[in-house]
Amino acid sequence: MPAKVVVVGSLNMDLVTRAGRLPRAGETLIGQSFFTVPGGKGANQAVASARLGGNVAMIGCVGSDAYGAELRDALLVEGIDCQAVSQVDGSSGVALIVVDDSSQNAIVIVAGSNGQLMPAVVHSFDAVLQSADVIVCQLEVPMATVAHTLKRGRELGKTVILNPAPASGPLPDDWYASIDYLIPNESEASALSGVVVDSLETAKVAATRLIKAGAGKVIVTLGAQGALFANGRDFEHLLAPQVKAIDTTAAGDTFVGGFAAALASGKSEAEAIRFGQVAAALSVTRAGAQPSIPTLHDVQGFVSA
Ligand code: RIB
Repeated sequence: MPAKVVVVGSLNMDLVTRAGRLPRAGETLIGQSFFTVPGGKGANQAVASARLGGNVAMIGCVGSDAYGAELRDALLVEGIDCQAVSQVDGSSGVALIVVDDSSQNAIVIVAGSNGQLMPAVVHSFDAVLQSADVIVCQLEVPMATVAHTLKRGRELGKTVILNPAPASGPLPDDWYASIDYLIPNESEASALSGVVVDSLETAKVAATRLIKAGAGKVIVTLGAQGALFANGRDFEHLLAPQVKAIDTTAAGDTFVGGFAAALASGKSEAEAIRFGQVAAALSVTRAGAQPSIPTLHDVQGFVSA
């Protein structure tokens, strides 16, 4: 059995509209299409890890509505262990997403059942955390739960990855010592570090601050500009494959899930980053969150083409 990736995080039903452009405040636009697809940063990263070769378990909460069963089933069909995906009373998490003609999106999330993933719930599935080699967290569940998971992951000696998304400000100082890989995008790196990240140079300054704060290694994802890897000694700028993007939703999640699966399979950091980049590039050529995530076969086909 390959090494195990355990994702602790959110599951959302994504309600997606395509429109020529994103609406301004107070404006009503005529949209082009509407569809619902399973999403949520945690679930997307779990699906990405599984499709890209990982042996994956998820810890999360879905609601008692129809979306809850659909969100759980979407993980089960990927072979993800869902013994720790609990159904709780009330609504599932949802994300209202608008995607424009230039493939950019705007997202509003409502936590719903994700807000019930309390530290005690994760603690009740401690055996699942113990079974992990790599633990992956994001910020769409209560902060106390992320804190618990990071600390427990460190105590258990696991490789701990935090994708600090969505980020609205600095992380608690005492989180950093538990993080092996911190993977923010530009806006998240800005929120965490206080440095406005809008170039490779400013990404280096931000990454240096985050490593000084205590993170083991930092990977700042830079969209079409690739990714910056920092380990406290050196920087490496890894360029992204160039593709025609139609929807960037879940590109970051695909990178994180692919990176985690590749690390768990024994790839080096640089190989895992390149693998995640190819997977993320393929994801932006397709619409939606989980439907856009490629398989290992897709990635291998792209690399060998
Ligand atoms: O990262 C993309 C995800 O963010 C979407 O699937 C949506 O659910 C929001 O959580």
